Amino acid sequence: MTTEQRPELPTRFEFPLLSHRPDLVYLDNAATTQKPLVVIEALNTFYLNYNANVHRGAHELSDRATEAFENARSKLVSFINASDRSEVIWTRGTTESINLVAQIYAERLRASDEVIISEMEHHSNIVPWQQLCERTDAKLLAVQVTEEGTLDMDHYRSLLSERTKVVALAHVSNALGTVNPIKEIARDAHDVDAIVVVDGAQAAPHEALDVQDLDVDFYAFSGHKMYGPTGIGVLYGKATLLDAMPPWQGGGEMIEHVTLEKTTYQKAPFRFEAGTPDISGVIGLGAAVDFLNQYDPATRHAHEQSLLTHATSALHQIEGVRVVGTAPKKTALVSFNVDGSHHSDIGMLLDQQKIAVRTGHHCAMPLMQKYGIPGTVRASFGLYNSKADVDALVRGVQKSVSMVQL
Ligand code: ALA
Repeated sequence: MTTEQRPELPTRFEFPLLSHRPDLVYLDNAATTQKPLVVIEALNTFYLNYNANVHRGAHELSDRATEAFENARSKLVSFINASDRSEVIWTRGTTESINLVAQIYAERLRASDEVIISEMEHHSNIVPWQQLCERTDAKLLAVQVTEEGTLDMDHYRSLLSERTKVVALAHVSNALGTVNPIKEIARDAHDVDAIVVVDGAQAAPHEALDVQDLDVDFYAFSGHKMYGPTGIGVLYGKATLLDAMPPWQGGGEMIEHVTLEKTTYQKAPFRFEAGTPDISGVIGLGAAVDFLNQYDPATRHAHEQSLLTHATSALHQIEGVRVVGTAPKKTALVSFNVDGSHHSDIGMLLDQQKIAVRTGHHCAMPLMQKYGIPGTVRASFGLYNSKADVDALVRGVQKSVSMVQL
């Protein structure tokens, strides 16, 4: 699918909320991005002009809705370079995608089996596996994280064995920004016949994705962190694995034939999409992919990396500021603390200066426990952020530091 490329990256003026709020410096993109007008318009157009249910109507509106809905699937197939459209399943987001795999694929685990996660995982990639291990008596192991915030790959390899059945890791840490070497991780996991499940929530907005090149078995991500609507996400699964999996939820759409005695099921992806889907969300996510595809991935990457480099070096120069997470390969996110201050106080002082960041444990409590800190202040950048936004953050942190040190 080709989209006409634009040489210039978008400015905040293509994002209605940011356009209406010139006073606001929005640096909470890892939590959710603002939405470009084209995505908002795609949602509006669906509801205003062709709202209907998909795959089941005998009328023109339903045909239009189905076509737009399945077109969006094609866009996502290209976006992640899946090999077949049956490999892209709509879910509510990353969390639901991971839960689906943990509940369905991995349910077959036994007491002698092991699941490997890491100390840097978001709770969404910890709790479903803990719950699975409680149900099956399988063992949960965690790869250690180094002081700078990278995965200890020697430790990872030492955990792998014929007992390993699942390796579930983040592509990018939401708390540190670290980009993990997923291709290498997958190769090592496959050597022991384990499957690889990737939490891609923080990678999809920033990294060029190619699930075939990464050779992962499942890849989960959310629409709302990549300029799309909330409530819609994707689970990619290799067709061979999906075809061998039982359905998840029962209901409409996922069936082939139902009698009161027995039901047979559709193939993937529909087998995993029970009930009326989030049609507008899917169409909005398709529009978000079109939006992203307008820009050369290398240009996007270079812009975000320049914001990261500028923010990191400027924050390092403020006395008392400690950056948490200094891995050599990071996405555009900087976590930090100020000596002698609580992260939430700094967040509140930044908010008073109209700078929106996230503070807290970032749903990664084990990582915070590992570093012996209650949380961090996290500034995360998107395509519409500028060097001026980073400068505002730096001035805001300088002012906050001087206020807490009074
Ligand atoms: N997981 C999202 C974040 O890191 C909400 O902010």
